[in-house]
Amino acid sequence: MPKKISHIGIAVKDLNEAVEFYKKLGLEVEATEIVESQKVKVAFIPVGDVRIELLEATSEDSTIAKFIEKRGEGIHHLALGTDNIVSKLKNIETKGIKLIDKSPRKGAHNSKIAFLHPESTQGVLLELCEETKNDS
Ligand code: CO
Repeated sequence: MPKKISHIGIAVKDLNEAVEFYKKLGLEVEATEIVESQKVKVAFIPVGDVRIELLEATSEDSTIAKFIEKRGEGIHHLALGTDNIVSKLKNIETKGIKLIDKSPRKGAHNSKIAFLHPESTQGVLLELCEETKNDS
């Protein structure tokens, strides 16, 4: 079972500007990283156990660029932290839940991530995220 909310992904046009905003709230960036596979630049901002994941597109064909074009900036996805993501995905697929990723891809922080299909999730883009051991 997922045990916690890992992070909340927020699509932004300008990562630096967004980071400055969160700094004004008294929060600090833990790490910034480019995730080539997703064509995004990411900043992680811890809030207690949960992180805010700010996402800026690095390319016009990034899903984040398309998301902002369609819907503007805002909450993009919710990530549930889980162990054994591979068996988790197999298990939920047998329950008729539609997946975007049938096998995990590499996310930021060396995590393994997979997205569920919004048709199965009441319109929320849900990510399963298996964090690397040293940062959970
Ligand atoms: Co994410």
